[in-house]
Amino acid sequence: MIGFFDSGIGGLGIWRAVRSRLPHVSTCYVADQAFCPYGTKAVKEIVERARRISQWLIQEGCTMIVVACNTATVNAMDRLRAEFDVPFVGTEPGIKPAQQVSRTGTIAVLATARTIGRYAQASDVQLLTAQGLVEEIEKFDWETSARLQAILEEVKTQLAPRVDTLVLGSTHFALIEDVVQQVFGDEITLINTNDAVASQVERVAKTVALDRGDHQWLTTGASDDVLQKLKIVWQCKEVRIDRGEIPC
Ligand code: DGL
Repeated sequence: MIGFFDSGIGGLGIWRAVRSRLPHVSTCYVADQAFCPYGTKAVKEIVERARRISQWLIQEGCTMIVVACNTATVNAMDRLRAEFDVPFVGTEPGIKPAQQVSRTGTIAVLATARTIGRYAQASDVQLLTAQGLVEEIEKFDWETSARLQAILEEVKTQLAPRVDTLVLGSTHFALIEDVVQQVFGDEITLINTNDAVASQVERVAKTVALDRGDHQWLTTGASDDVLQKLKIVWQCKEVRIDRGEIPC
C-alpha cells in the first residue's frame, strides 16, 4: 500500500496523478485537517505531525510514503528519512521547470510561509505567500468564493513586473490551478509538480512490495459537509472516507 499525507485536501492532486499511473495499487491518504494549515505552524509541530502520521501509515502496512505537501517536505523530510526505513517521495516547488519555461527569466513562487522560509531570496525568484488561502481552499467553494478570489487578486498585485511564470508551491494551490489561471490571465504560465511527483512515485514503486486493492481516505478532522463535497467533487465512489484511527 502507498501512503500519502497532507495537511488537508491539497495532496489529492498528487494522489489522483499517482492513481492514473498505478490504478491497481492500494493507497491510504491521510488528510491532517485537525492541524491544517501547516504553513503557519512552528517547524517543530510540522515535524511532529509528519512523524506521527508516517509511523501510523507504516503500521497500517504502507511500504512507501508520499509526502504530498510542500510544507511538510521542506521542513520534515530529512527527519522522516532518518527515522523510518520505508522510501519517501516528497513534493518541492518546481523552480527549475519554471526557470526553463520562463521567457523573461523572472519567476515567482507562491507557497506557504513555512515553505518559502526555507528558500533564500534570489533576484530572479520572487517569493510570495497568501494568508488564508489554504483555509479557503479547504472549504471546496473554489469557483464561487469571493474571499478566495480576493486573496488571489491581492497576490496578483504583488507580482514583480517581469514575472511571467508562477510556481504553485503548495499542493493546495495546485489543486485550484484553473481558478488561479483565470485570475492571473494567460500571460502568466503556471507550474505545478503533481505529475513529476507521480512519475517519481512510479519509479520508487518498482523497488518495494505493493499490494493491489482499494483506496482509503482518512481525515483527522473534516466536517461532514466537507466529506460530502469531497465525494461529489472527486467522484470518490470506490474510496472509503472516514475519520479512522489517526493519531491526533
Ligand atoms: N498543502 C500544503 C503544501 O503543499 C500546505 C498547506 C498548509 O499550509 O497546510 O504546502
